[in-house]
Amino acid sequence: MIAHAVRRLCGRAYRRVWPEARSIRNLERHMGHLLCQPHPTTGWHRHPALFAAVRDLLAGVVEPRLLSYGCSTGEEALSLYEVLPNAHVTAIDINPRSIRLARRLAARLAVERVTFVCAGAPPDPALIERFDAVFCLSVLRHARLESELPESCAAILPFARAQLLMHQLDDLLKPGGYLVMWGSNFRLCDTDLASRYATIPTPGCKPHCGPFYTANDRRADAADTAEFVFRKRSDAPNDGL
Ligand SMILES: C[S@@+](CC[C@H](N)C(=O)[O-])C[C@H]1O[C@@H](n2cnc3c(N)ncnc32)[C@H](O)[C@@H]1O
Repeated sequence: MIAHAVRRLCGRAYRRVWPEARSIRNLERHMGHLLCQPHPTTGWHRHPALFAAVRDLLAGVVEPRLLSYGCSTGEEALSLYEVLPNAHVTAIDINPRSIRLARRLAARLAVERVTFVCAGAPPDPALIERFDAVFCLSVLRHARLESELPESCAAILPFARAQLLMHQLDDLLKPGGYLVMWGSNFRLCDTDLASRYATIPTPGCKPHCGPFYTANDRRADAADTAEFVFRKRSDAPNDGL
């Protein structure tokens, strides 16, 4: 009886974990040059203070357009929609399995204003309207940087890859819009985008702990940062640097 229950539990865990592990292996094999954090860990309302701060910043926008970049299985995008029910949310992830699960979840909840898109790279900005806020939470990071604390991030997640993704997100953001970047091993202030943004203080939001890696791929001394919300300057040209 007990053995049967244990077997059933193990079977259930295996059926859940195995497809996820296989999807990560496939990504590492075929999309390794683009991939940042491969693990799809997520949850509902993971950042209530941060989401509330952005809701207040967007109070004057009638139907804000939000991008949840690296949305995993959809809980982040659907939480944003709960916090900002007048918003249109586009949610993108590089993992096709996560996007399938996200679409299934949205369908079960009958949510129509959240659109899930599978990306090998951020979509061509010309094909898509620009966003009022772009969320990139726990994406520009890698579990091995945190567990192994290497002196250089080059062999795991090079700075250039993170900076390229930030550029692609910058292209998708309206001038005057907000870039929200939490849980990152890379800081906006170390990139060549820094002068295009002003930091918006968000007291009450949990700080993110490093390690942080700088433009030469070396580990920085800083232990944590409380800078996660950045306003794109209205005069920042939207045609690259
Ligand atoms: C730890 S999850 C974060 C999920 C969610 N943003 C959150 O904070 O709850 C990281 C996600 O980033 C996605 N990801 C990693 N690199 C990506 C890339 N280059 N483009 C799009 N998604 C990416 C992974 O597939 C994974 O679902």
